[in-house]
Amino acid sequence: MLGKRVLNDLSAYQQGMQISEVKRNYNLDRIVKLSSNENPYGFSDKVKEDLKIDEQPFELYPDGYAYDLRTKVANKLTVGPDQLVFGSGSDEIITFICRAYLYEGTNTIMATPTFSQYKHHALIEGAEVREVPTVNGKHDLANMAKQIDEQTKVVWLCSPDNPTGEIIQQNALELFMEQCPNDVLVILDEAYYEYVPYSFQLNLHESLEKYPNLVVLRTFSKIYGLAGLRVGYGISSEVIAEKLNVVRGPFNTTSLAQRAVQSALDDDEFIANTKKLNLEVKNTFKAFLDELNWGYYESFTNFLLVKTPIDADKTTHYLLERGFIVRSGNALGYPNTVRITIGLEQDMKELQLVLRQLQKDVDEEVIK
Ligand SMILES: Cc1ncc(COP(=O)(O)O)c(C=O)c1O
Repeated sequence: MLGKRVLNDLSAYQQGMQISEVKRNYNLDRIVKLSSNENPYGFSDKVKEDLKIDEQPFELYPDGYAYDLRTKVANKLTVGPDQLVFGSGSDEIITFICRAYLYEGTNTIMATPTFSQYKHHALIEGAEVREVPTVNGKHDLANMAKQIDEQTKVVWLCSPDNPTGEIIQQNALELFMEQCPNDVLVILDEAYYEYVPYSFQLNLHESLEKYPNLVVLRTFSKIYGLAGLRVGYGISSEVIAEKLNVVRGPFNTTSLAQRAVQSALDDDEFIANTKKLNLEVKNTFKAFLDELNWGYYESFTNFLLVKTPIDADKTTHYLLERGFIVRSGNALGYPNTVRITIGLEQDMKELQLVLRQLQKDVDEEVIK
């Protein structure tokens, strides 16, 4: 059966290895997964306390409009409820944007490398993809602005960026927005927003008011620790949110997930604690990398893109054999790097031992 022709050139998302798969393949009992930037501290206890499974009406369809969740998020962000669109992860919002705004004859602009899903879904919709190389792991906003023309419909900005963790600062964003025509949508993907130090966080309210073409993406998958429940959202003008809601499936987020993320929103302490612990463990790990003389990108997130002394796939394999799953930078567009999620303190200490041994093996030419 023939699908869209472009599908012949694309492949399904290559996820990182699963814990069970590594256990099976490498005959290991204990695995530390540091490949998908999940929260190693889990999620708020409030979610467990509030979710009384026996009382959930699973026989009923969920509220597709997600009224309760919408009201809660709107109040928290001080935006109107109809400025929001909810998706099965922010991944799904990316598909809504592409479906609603891109088609053959249009083009879309993004950094390269960056999060893979913008390009993937833009190509499926038949749009031309204009990729602008990053400079030292940062978006080259001046060159991205130069790529905009009459056919440009969407520009993608990822801040903090995946996989480097680098951010776009408010003044740079504003400069870019001033150069961008009002009818070009600018997507600011802030999946790791809550990890960013307060002084670098974007002023959402002000930005949305100033720039009616801005769409901000957030998620419950990262610091909230609820990746398995799949809830992300977009914040924009009501006009854009309405368009995105048109392409949204009628019941795209589950009642269970809607309920759970509301409880998670009530626990600011869990978020503050995770942020604090992540920073402490990240700083210790950075000091260790400095000692080893391994470079890394400045990251405002819960992961680090680390430069390796040998090929990234070899490093990834070396770590896998020893029970650590990390992401090879080869697949992410940054050869000779690995992306490592900042895990629990003890796990990171064990990782340091393995990395120290790796450096020794390289020095002694046991591996090349
Ligand atoms: C930059 C960025 N955007 C979006 C996503 C998608 O997250 P989710 O669909 O779980 O909300 C991810 C996940 O890794 C990400 O790193």
